[in-house]
Amino acid sequence: MRDLLSTANLSRKEFEDILRKAAALKADRRVTNELAGRSVALVFLNPSLRTRASMQVAVFELGGNPVLIEPGSTSWSIEYRDKIVMDGNKTEHIAEFVRVLSRYVSAIGVRTFAELKDWEYERTDPVLHAFAKYSNVPVINLESAMHHPCQAFADMLTIRERFGSEKKRVLMTWAWHPKALPMAVPNSFVLAAAQCGHELTIAHPAGYDLDSDLMRQATEHAEAAGGSIRVTNDPHQGFDDGDVVYAKSWAPASFYGRPDVGHHASLRHDWIVDSEKMSRTNDGIFMHCLPVRRNVIVTDEVLDSSNSVVIDEAENRLHVQKAILAALVK
Ligand code: CP
Repeated sequence: MRDLLSTANLSRKEFEDILRKAAALKADRRVTNELAGRSVALVFLNPSLRTRASMQVAVFELGGNPVLIEPGSTSWSIEYRDKIVMDGNKTEHIAEFVRVLSRYVSAIGVRTFAELKDWEYERTDPVLHAFAKYSNVPVINLESAMHHPCQAFADMLTIRERFGSEKKRVLMTWAWHPKALPMAVPNSFVLAAAQCGHELTIAHPAGYDLDSDLMRQATEHAEAAGGSIRVTNDPHQGFDDGDVVYAKSWAPASFYGRPDVGHHASLRHDWIVDSEKMSRTNDGIFMHCLPVRRNVIVTDEVLDSSNSVVIDEAENRLHVQKAILAALVK
């Protein structure tokens, strides 16, 4: 592993090593010295609670120094386009921004959400890849347009804590949301669940398909790991005898470039996760990456139940990120 841009190209061993190391770090939580004398830049182009706090604490607990950078706010705004005449409102080109940071720090974490303007462009994660291109230290994706690998590792660790390494019946279900949201979390969860060989159901309304290349990659991983993937447009079917229910809203490719389009109101009632749906699972756990809108994505009753593991998931961000940093920064 040189960078962590997604989990897609990780070997089974690399994937398992991160989970094992994260579990060990969680079991013996103390300040260590893997990053002693080193700094890690954390570049946030978008808001965050969990990612920002857990990365800062992760670097600190490995003995290092987190350097928080917010372009366009507490640091200069960044221009990404090549061969551009910079006479607009952007102050610094990414070519200098990243190469300068690389002289100071031992790794760079970057959060850069999809803008939901141009699907064909954004699905290639251009900003994230520009960071990787110009950096000569490891780059860690802290959520891009297409991937959120740190979240996916935390999700897999959370499932493993409840069920061990057994393959489980896992549902990723779309949910209604007042805003159009990117696909990074469902993409990364689907990939990681496939890499772990789970029996995965993806439920979403017709027309809300995840990226076809991503689905092809996930299917290949599922086959290699002895798992399976099925897709349904039925909001109820995937709950039957499920062990894990993961809810997340996302906007399909057809929403990109159409700022006024939203999810149809008729989808709201059918796609919320409630006690009736959870009662049909195999005493399944409820997962969400957070932040979550109560009584929109999931009812209070489910979110506050003992089957809800959302706080464990959030805690596990810290432990997996410590393991990722320790693996990448040599
Ligand atoms: N799950 C997650 O990435 O949370 P934040 O957006 O608060 O970082």
